[in-house]
Amino acid sequence: MKTLIVYATNHGTSEQIAKLIAEKAANETDLVNLKKEKKIDLHSYEQIIIGGSIHAGTIQKPLRRFIEGSMSQLLQKRIGLFLSCMHEQKAQKQFEMVFPEILRTHAQSKQLTGGEFRFDKMNFLERAIVKKVVGISESISNINFDAIERLVEEMDLNKVN
Ligand SMILES: Cc1cc2nc3c(=O)[nH]c(=O)nc-3n(C[C@H](O)[C@H](O)[C@H](O)COP(=O)(O)O)c2cc1C
Repeated sequence: MKTLIVYATNHGTSEQIAKLIAEKAANETDLVNLKKEKKIDLHSYEQIIIGGSIHAGTIQKPLRRFIEGSMSQLLQKRIGLFLSCMHEQKAQKQFEMVFPEILRTHAQSKQLTGGEFRFDKMNFLERAIVKKVVGISESISNINFDAIERLVEEMDLNKVN
């Protein structure tokens, strides 16, 4: 089963997760960074995995546009969804806000994959916001590797076919 992983990332965490998923896949898996590639041909793929992250309560615009613009095609394929974020209490709500109900209902796998605060990648304003709101000033990683594993299994990526 040919799989495409479509992602958007601000500081590299969702990209890292997308690459980890691709590495674990037994079959051909392509990766597309939505901030770099605008036109994506979905025809040759049976499965699409879509992931991104939350910044100030919202997902990346290219990811939102991709989902809205490709919905009819997406609903004809096996779908996996993942979200990187750091607010654990709000994570589920944010997931539901980002991915439309029709897509969530259709999806084979839906995972909250944790996240990271990467101070080395943040600009001045982002650093100031995270320091003030979260109260930390050093990078932390809280990637949920079990969730990544579940996504790989639920999408049958570990099976050769
Ligand atoms: C400026 C800023 C704002 C953020 N806002 C939120 C937020 O509203 N909710 C949340 O759960 N996580 C928030 N996060 C955490 C990110 O979702 C987390 O850093 C994620 O791993 C980023 O993934 P990316 O590098 O793929 O963009 C924020 C992070 C930054 C730097």
